[in-house]
Amino acid sequence: MSGNSVQFDHKPNPAPMPAVQRDALLANPGFGRVFTDHMAVIQYTEGKGWHSARIEARAPLQVDPASAVLHYAQEIFEGMKAYRVDNGSVLFRPDANARRFNASADRMSMPQLPEHLFLQSVKKLVEVDRDWVPSQPGGSLYLRPFMIASEIFLGVKPSAEYLYMVIASPVGSYFKGAGGPVSVWISQNDTRAATGGTGAAKCGGNYAASLRAQAEAIRNGCDQTLFLDAKERRWVEELGGMNVFFVFEDGSLATPPLEGTILPGITRDSLITLARAEGLTVREERYSIDQWKADAASGKLREVFACGTAAVVAPIGRVASPAGSFTIGNPEVGGPVTTKLRAALVDIQLGQAPDPHGWVQKV
Ligand code: PLP
Ligand code: COI
Repeated sequence: MSGNSVQFDHKPNPAPMPAVQRDALLANPGFGRVFTDHMAVIQYTEGKGWHSARIEARAPLQVDPASAVLHYAQEIFEGMKAYRVDNGSVLFRPDANARRFNASADRMSMPQLPEHLFLQSVKKLVEVDRDWVPSQPGGSLYLRPFMIASEIFLGVKPSAEYLYMVIASPVGSYFKGAGGPVSVWISQNDTRAATGGTGAAKCGGNYAASLRAQAEAIRNGCDQTLFLDAKERRWVEELGGMNVFFVFEDGSLATPPLEGTILPGITRDSLITLARAEGLTVREERYSIDQWKADAASGKLREVFACGTAAVVAPIGRVASPAGSFTIGNPEVGGPVTTKLRAALVDIQLGQAPDPHGWVQKV
């Protein structure tokens, strides 16, 4: 199904938010609570394919209580950002998000969305809502493409109808602090994904299952939950919404390998490329929590950071679990490699450094 004949209809919001009100919200948007005037929608019907593409006023959905997604959680999403540059807006590696969206769709028995429709939907929304792209440092327009199973049926089978949508939210920093190191909590009970499960897919269920451990993290004074592997409870996997990197005294880096249980982060992939271009060695290999503790104590491990679209690059300064806690490097400030890689990434994203990999796309 090429989707080549699908054309976007544009129905402008008849009552967009007044500029004064919008600008007041843009001054301090926080994360994920403010939304733009429009949304993109494309529908899918088995036998007919993708149809009824449109950009229209953002509004509540009418969802039948028997819609499949409400019962069996056939849902996937993406997270990406548009950045304001001198002469408009840019997206960072949107083609990679389109591919991952389809990989998630495959895992959840949902239809493939042709890559050009994904890209068009996102670009058209950013174009229409361009005044909502923040201009202050650290601000961006967070884009949330997602797909839900919309067939009205209670049988357990892949839905015959789907709704794909994109909503947009101006955002500042994901973490509340001033960019200093964050702390992570290892739950004794909960794991995120097992071999053969949905860990590599960006599906809502993974996040629902992470919430109890995340609540435990907050109760224990930590910012995020860090998951270990489900089988041996030993190997570091990822955070609830971010991948993780380790920086050693010899300047090399390590990050958990993509073995099907963690999300293949686009930030992760970009940082591997940037670090290698700097001449640094990056190993994609398993790293155990015991080794982490031992290397932190001996000084062999110098820095740890989390990375993802929402969080960008955030140093990790402390690890806590029911067994106790330990710190890495100076828990008050991020290390030099973390700081340098973050700057290299952000400079490309904002068009302030050359883009040798062709990652940035103009809207
Ligand atoms: N891991 C999880 C579980 C995530 O939710 C995210 C965020 O999207 C990431 C990793 C990082 O992925 P990306 O860099 O593509 O945003
Ligand atoms: C993202 O970084 O885009 C995510 O989806 C993660 C979530 C914590 C907001």
